[in-house]
Amino acid sequence: MSSLLETKIAARQHALREQGLLRQRKVLGVDHALNTNASTSSPRFVFEGRAYVNFSSNDYLGLSRVPELVEALHLGAQTYGVGSGASPLVTGYSDAHLALERELCDLTGHEAALLFCSGFSANTALMKTLFDQHDIVVADKLVHASIIDGLQDSGAQLKRFLHNSLESAERLLARHQTSALITESVFSMDGDCAPIFELSALCRQHHTWLIVDDAHGFAVLDGYNNADAAKLIDVQVVTFGKALGCQGAAVLGSQALIDFLVSNAREYIYSTALSPANAALALAATQYSTAHPELQQKLLENIALFKRLCREANVPLLGSDTAIQPLIIGDALQTLQVAEELRAAGIWVGAIRPPTVPVGSARLRITLTAAHAAEDITACVAQLAQVLSRVGVPLVTERQAADDHR
Ligand SMILES: Cc1ncc(COP(=O)(O)O)c(C=O)c1O
Repeated sequence: MSSLLETKIAARQHALREQGLLRQRKVLGVDHALNTNASTSSPRFVFEGRAYVNFSSNDYLGLSRVPELVEALHLGAQTYGVGSGASPLVTGYSDAHLALERELCDLTGHEAALLFCSGFSANTALMKTLFDQHDIVVADKLVHASIIDGLQDSGAQLKRFLHNSLESAERLLARHQTSALITESVFSMDGDCAPIFELSALCRQHHTWLIVDDAHGFAVLDGYNNADAAKLIDVQVVTFGKALGCQGAAVLGSQALIDFLVSNAREYIYSTALSPANAALALAATQYSTAHPELQQKLLENIALFKRLCREANVPLLGSDTAIQPLIIGDALQTLQVAEELRAAGIWVGAIRPPTVPVGSARLRITLTAAHAAEDITACVAQLAQVLSRVGVPLVTERQAADDHR
């Protein structure tokens, strides 16, 4: 007879499989042909013996393969060893960590920073430690799972405002005495940007903190993301696993906030510190991205090329201007089918399904990087247009015709 847990696991997995929502890992290998010319050709990997162009990574500037950064990690490991060996308050905090914290503060204008091994733990630690049952917090409907989990654990009352709606946010701020408003700089699944300047003004008016998860904006988004960031944003969470191409995260804010987290954030106190080698790498990657603005320019050119080709081919994008280009299909199984067919053409894009996105909005999440070659972007869009019409996903013209008819 099966145990209670075995029965539960089997039933849940069966239900997920039926709905096309089962998640499975794919073992990816290195494309050795590519590595001879590392950072100057489209990102690729090998899956089951075949090479694919990767249109689903968050390595927006292509930094994960830059030889100088490979060398920085190597040097960091030679200098400090491969691990931190302890939690930060024991003996896991080194001058490599401090140097990275200082660099991040110089870049953003915040007083102090605290490093975590991932953005997920930075967000959950921040939310759980900062808030309790006496706080009311308002957050954009689409904020990341790590923020929601942390808020739930904190016991704070959570009020959600309509995605990117200033009116909806203002209504909540006017109605409740809120401790903070939380949003993302670039939304991870939609690719659109929050109105940071306007939200900041709103928060100032209502004497509430603005907390921004900058995972997908840091090192790529111009505008607020400079030494003035701290004037607009009270707490900024940056991650190193996206545009910086490496791993880890930081919470940036006032010295008082960081001291408070050091003494109270369980994820920080009771966990092995980010390795100093990784801290040295993230510092090198931060400096590299600042010293090479042409990478951001190349990324913008690649985004513009992709959008133009999609427009010409009537491929119905969501309208994002960032590296994250979603194409809503709706049905989860059909989304998987489109992704599979693109794979048959050597193009790998993410198929994003509920609960990562709302039910009925399953989508392809196509991400562009500075490292993509124009011919690969062109091939990607050509295949997209073909596969969509083969599978029966309406193109822009057909969607418009259906709307006009309604
Ligand atoms: C908006 C956002 N915040 C936080 C995270 C978590 O960051 P990390 O991947 O470093 O754990 C992610 C990662 O997917 C994200 O998209």
